[in-house]
Amino acid sequence: MKVMVVGSGGREHAIAWKLAQDESVSRVVCCPGNAGIAKTAKCLPVRVNDTAGLLAAASEEGCDLVVFGPEEPLVNGAADALRKAGLTVFGPSQSASRLEGSKVFAKVFMKRHGIPSADFEVFDDYEKARAYVEEKRGPLVIKADGLAKGKGVVVCDDAESGSVALKGMMVDRRFGDSGNRVVVEERLEGPELSVTAVCDGRRHLLLPFSQDHKRALEGDRGPNTGGMGAYCPVPFVGRGLAEEIESAVVRPALEGMASDGTPYTGVLYAGIMLTPAGIRVLEFNCRFGDPETQAVLPSADVRLGETLLAAARGELSGVNRAESGRHSACVVLASAGYPGEYETGLPITGLDSLSDEDGVLVFHAATREDGGRTVTAGGRVLGITGTGPSLEVALGRAYAAVRAVSFRGMHFRRDIGTRALGVAG
Ligand code: AMP
Ligand code: GLY
Repeated sequence: MKVMVVGSGGREHAIAWKLAQDESVSRVVCCPGNAGIAKTAKCLPVRVNDTAGLLAAASEEGCDLVVFGPEEPLVNGAADALRKAGLTVFGPSQSASRLEGSKVFAKVFMKRHGIPSADFEVFDDYEKARAYVEEKRGPLVIKADGLAKGKGVVVCDDAESGSVALKGMMVDRRFGDSGNRVVVEERLEGPELSVTAVCDGRRHLLLPFSQDHKRALEGDRGPNTGGMGAYCPVPFVGRGLAEEIESAVVRPALEGMASDGTPYTGVLYAGIMLTPAGIRVLEFNCRFGDPETQAVLPSADVRLGETLLAAARGELSGVNRAESGRHSACVVLASAGYPGEYETGLPITGLDSLSDEDGVLVFHAATREDGGRTVTAGGRVLGITGTGPSLEVALGRAYAAVRAVSFRGMHFRRDIGTRALGVAG
């Protein structure tokens, strides 16, 4: 089969790479892709929000399946439009994508279906929200309702920082209409876990658990980023916890979406916190995680083309686990200044010296070709994934490969996965 991947980041590179490993996939096309993806897939210059362009490209290329990477086109209804035109699409409908597109929708949905989550209140009035935050005093989390490029969540220590966050969203309109409504949530504590379930509307296939590293600097300091690295699987998640996550989160979410008349087809990503009081869902996303996917797919025992096609057709088999015993760790190489301002167009050296055979995979997040050289084209530039029989080996391979690569100002965290080392499974 021929598969089209929509997107241009490290996540889409990992998806294209995994699809190409599947014998049932004869060709991968990517819109728009990047310099690294171009080595595994045919890249076409169609933007992710150009639905008419995606439709034309998928038809011209004779694609049997379209797989969406990013959330924005899904939340805007691109999967519905392509399905309506007769294409087979892996990605939720616009109504089902509200699980990510509206924090208020997700919170109300979870409450209604008994899915454990932080206590919350919803506000569309700034003064009322501020009065509530001041009355509460303690640590809170403020979330803009709509999409905000991963920046719409502010974890606050006190009422003062809470008020500043509210003003930024509701008065200064930092995220435009996305901040018209906010969720004010109880602040929880505990390790976080990323859950990736491939869903066909009713059934799911659980991919191995992973852990992201969201802060820019070592020791979880510095500003929040899109993610500076991830590893998979997570040693502190045993069988019991995995089953609890399926029965308390994944199944009720799928059943709830189906019974609400918006069955969920696509990746259901749940960001979970393991609090002293039990598991709590922090957020749902309607797509694969980034950079989690760059660690999850190399570790997972799954034929991705076959699986995503079956899910898109509502025909997933009963198998719902994909662990392989293979460990992986992805280290993100970012531009100087990221997540703030950064320069682009800087030449990257050392990429040719790396080879898959050494248990190393190089996923391009934001690169382009410029006069025969590969140059930087964004904040998160590359994800270097090491794989191996243990997390330690995977990390060793990833960091050895990182040492071979460089571009001016390149920065990365040296402590990806280190907290998990030595934790028994
Ligand atoms: P989200 O975009 O909803 O995943 O939130 C981004 C990050 O904010 C999460 O990965 C957590 O680290 C943090 N966060 C979100 N909700 C809470 C909460 N209720 N308590 C503590 N931290 C939270
Ligand atoms: N890494 C977190 C996310 O993909 O939303």
